[in-house]
Amino acid sequence: MSPAQPCERVPLSPTSMLELLPPYPIVLVTTRGNAITINQIAYFTFRPLRIGIGVAHSRHTHELLRAEREFVVNVPDASLIGAVRVCGSLSGRDGDKFQAAGLEWEASMQVGAVSLPGCGAQIECRVVREIPFEHRDWFIGEVVAAQKRVGHAGAKALMCGRHAYWIPGAEVAPR
Ligand SMILES: Cc1cc2nc3c(=O)[nH]c(=O)nc-3n(C[C@H](O)[C@H](O)[C@H](O)COP(=O)(O)O)c2cc1C
Repeated sequence: MSPAQPCERVPLSPTSMLELLPPYPIVLVTTRGNAITINQIAYFTFRPLRIGIGVAHSRHTHELLRAEREFVVNVPDASLIGAVRVCGSLSGRDGDKFQAAGLEWEASMQVGAVSLPGCGAQIECRVVREIPFEHRDWFIGEVVAAQKRVGHAGAKALMCGRHAYWIPGAEVAPR
């Protein structure tokens, strides 16, 4: 083994360090009568499958999740960037976001939170735990039902970097 060759490096400021991570998923999370754009989403356990979303105290969605204890993770593709922007900038306190974003909704299978049929997939969750972290809480939801549009693939789902929206590139190797 030979020592690594020196290569050119660029120092980064703390705020630009997020650029070091690949783009992350971006989703539209629905409650009974509202939708919010969320990028703080992660799975917390596989069995049972539990998904957490980080929601700031200031969001209308925070109050709604506290009261309703259910949400749906709707997975948009690039055609829904406009709706992602609207749901990520307007508050449901100020009006009907479904109308503002041109989003149709329908009843879900297992939860009272509505689903967005315009999205490729819908993952229905019941809140089983809340984890406080500074100015936001992580709402951990157990997945109770899920469906997808025929032909939808996670690989076409919308993603978000620090400065742009993305879709994932091609698959390169098996796991
Ligand atoms: C790309 C993007 C990602 C966002 N991710 C989050 C997030 O993970 N958590 C959060 O609390 N707000 C997030 N926001 C901000 C909310 O979507 C925004 O404040 C929204 O208007 C809140 O709506 P509400 O008041 O109806 O809940 C994001 C916004 C954008 C544009």
